[in-house]
Amino acid sequence: MKDALENLEREALSEIEAATSKEELFDIRTRYLGRKGLLTGVLRKLKEVPPDERPILGERSNRAKELIARKIDEALELCEAQSRSERLKSGALDVTLPGRSIRRGSLHPITQTMMEICSIFFDLGFSIEEGPEVELDYYNFEALNIPKDHPARDMQDTFYIDDEKVLRTHTSPVQVRTMEKQRPPVRILSPGKVYRPDSDVSHTPMFHQVEGLLVDRSITFADLKGTLEYFLHNMFGSDRSIRFRPSFFPFTEPSAEVDIRCVICGGEGCRVCGNGGWLEILGCGMVDPAVFQNVGYDPEEFTGFAFGLGVERIAMLKYGISDIRLFFENDRRFLSQF
Ligand code: DAH
Repeated sequence: MKDALENLEREALSEIEAATSKEELFDIRTRYLGRKGLLTGVLRKLKEVPPDERPILGERSNRAKELIARKIDEALELCEAQSRSERLKSGALDVTLPGRSIRRGSLHPITQTMMEICSIFFDLGFSIEEGPEVELDYYNFEALNIPKDHPARDMQDTFYIDDEKVLRTHTSPVQVRTMEKQRPPVRILSPGKVYRPDSDVSHTPMFHQVEGLLVDRSITFADLKGTLEYFLHNMFGSDRSIRFRPSFFPFTEPSAEVDIRCVICGGEGCRVCGNGGWLEILGCGMVDPAVFQNVGYDPEEFTGFAFGLGVERIAMLKYGISDIRLFFENDRRFLSQF
């Protein structure tokens, strides 16, 4: 019986050593240690040996069982470690590779330009006011001294929603809305989207404007000039010449347009400035007394100035972009340059 045990143990150990896979080891475990296994079979025969030999044989067979079980566990662990290192070597996962970085978006060049414009006026104490893009005819035209059938309406082609509502054609209506709810002093800036049925290299049906309005006692045209000069020199550089040219807007009197020396040719004359050497950059003027009357301000007591500028135009001049439509095609190669 003792010899049978020792033979069995030897065979089991050599089989374990020769095994090359987990499956084989599981099989060996069942074959030797299972309920109907070989070692169990030997133990069953324990009752046939004389009682005084039983304890020694019992102890010997327990040792054989423990040894075989331990060797199988060790071999299984070795198998596991080997297959893990093979998996790593085969490159399923290379933990030393750097991670993939997340692509970050950026602000649209028009948004950036608008923020830059606003921040210059913040320095001068202006604050933001907003108005609706679907606007009443009254605010877009009437209150700004542009009555129905007045020829000045032809200056701005309009998307009509119905007889009373339009898509605002400019940000000037915010002037009226602000003055209706606030007494002077008023010092506001109104950036936003505006709409006109126009489309070519320098016009899109939707574009952006920034409106400015300042009303107080004793405001003069000199205040207007100083404010716009401060803005333009901050926006385009302090060495860039600017000029005020007489113009007409129904809501300002007197009115002016402001030009800057051409950013492309420096005044020599080129295609962009139409050989004139100057670029038109904004419209402005002293608020017309008729507008003050519409909002209940006394034109004898208060004066003020207003201005309106196109954001796309400023961005095009600042970045040297020749086609306005590039801003709205959302080509990432274009947008990511800003
Ligand atoms: N609203 C005018 C336009 O869209 C621009 C403008 C001109 C605004 C003169 C003003 C202004 O406030 O005083 O063409």
